[in-house]
Amino acid sequence: MKSARTRIKDVLACSQPIAEVCVKGWVRTLRRGKGVAFVELNDGSCFASLQVVMEAGMADYETASKIGTGACLAVTGALESSPAKGQTWELKAQKVVVLGDSDAEYPLQKKRHSFEYLRSIAHLRPRSNTFGAVFRMRSALSFAIHRFFQERGFLYVQTPIITANDCEGAGEMFRVTTLDPARPPMENGQVNWGEDFFAERTGLTVSGQLQAELFATAFGDVYTFGPTFRAENSNTSRHAAEFWMIEPEMAFADLAEDCRLGEDFIRYLVRYALEHCREDLAFFNDRIEKGLIDKLEKVADAEFKTMTYTQAVDVLQKSGQHFEFPVEWGHDLQSEHERYLTEKVIDGPVFVTDYPAGIKAFYMRINDDERTVAAMDLLLPRVGEIIGGSQREERKEVLLRRMKESGIAPESLPWYLDIRRWGSCPHAGFGLGFERFLMYVTGMENIRDLIPFPRTPGNAKF
Ligand code: 4AD
Ligand code: MG
Repeated sequence: MKSARTRIKDVLACSQPIAEVCVKGWVRTLRRGKGVAFVELNDGSCFASLQVVMEAGMADYETASKIGTGACLAVTGALESSPAKGQTWELKAQKVVVLGDSDAEYPLQKKRHSFEYLRSIAHLRPRSNTFGAVFRMRSALSFAIHRFFQERGFLYVQTPIITANDCEGAGEMFRVTTLDPARPPMENGQVNWGEDFFAERTGLTVSGQLQAELFATAFGDVYTFGPTFRAENSNTSRHAAEFWMIEPEMAFADLAEDCRLGEDFIRYLVRYALEHCREDLAFFNDRIEKGLIDKLEKVADAEFKTMTYTQAVDVLQKSGQHFEFPVEWGHDLQSEHERYLTEKVIDGPVFVTDYPAGIKAFYMRINDDERTVAAMDLLLPRVGEIIGGSQREERKEVLLRRMKESGIAPESLPWYLDIRRWGSCPHAGFGLGFERFLMYVTGMENIRDLIPFPRTPGNAKF
């Protein structure tokens, strides 16, 4: 363990003292006493910091004991058991090298900052306790997501980010173009997109689903995990203009199997967090959402409930609860309705299925009643909708009819229709919003605090 850097996480996990070890990290706090200075050094490898003790006899003591909060240090010393309360080890410094100095204007001084303020210094917030924990969770759960699907034999497919198709048909695509906005080529009073880079109108993808479906009809079970973009001008705590989505797609599956996969997936990720992210979860449980760990343990064991949209409307109408938006069959559920169902009626996760065809996307499979589609949303307490999915319309004629009803020209999606022409099969899938899921497992309340550099209306700094 000489000279090479050891991560603080590994140092703190040692079972016995070490004569010489080198750590590198950033100063969280510095306390000076008489002839001694205590530094809390954090390198992001774990929540805890390592206490470094510098004594006056040490070479370079004068320089080292004057560094400021936020400075970057390389410390070599002896790991000894600590007399201080609440920590097993401390590092008796023998040599301290200041790799990067700091000054009194470093914004992350000791006091607690609001999340709003920390968002304005998104380049530094990863060095705070809360955001250290958030981004370690995000990384650990990204790995768990791949592990879940790989263990089940799903193929990982990277679907395009630039696309000509608005999968959800909601008109929320960001445009991608190389045309000069001041002087676009015109034809009959309209912009001639044929002269654009891709010779047609393109944008950033709102979902990888349509392409994932193509792969499902070759590989059976597939999943995507990538960035998704929506120019939704809604300034809520649950919407981001750039977010990450996981979209599994399964050939030969119906809506019930789709829900089963969604439930297994959520419970697997929750268990993974409970097993592998204990230290960070303890912090969230203590400081962000009281009872968080109990809640997660309950979800890891519970069976998710299911109700149809029609039942949900019935329950909401009979609830006697006053809602800002009235509940009426045929209208989409608003987040106040979703939260009432999952928080008050069920008190846990609930799938709502079989929505009216008129409020859902063209690709969802029409049920025998001809009024509803085989769709599902998974609702969770505090967060609301976290998963949206469906069985897909695999019958070519029905799909053509649905496209026409939804105002989608069949000529714009010939490849999507081809899949229904050659070797069509029942298939189903869903999309999980990664940041919304992270809100649920950390207790953090604003989606801007779960993604490293949030993009929302009016904000693309950093
Ligand atoms: O319900 P959505 O729109 O479904 C789809 O995009 C389907 N194509 C998925 C599929 O079947 N393969 O979005 C899926 C999930 C939502 O439930 C939500 O968790 C998340 O994506 N989501 C957002 N997350 C953050 N910010 C936004 N603006 C989001 N819009 C959707
Ligand atoms: Mg949805």
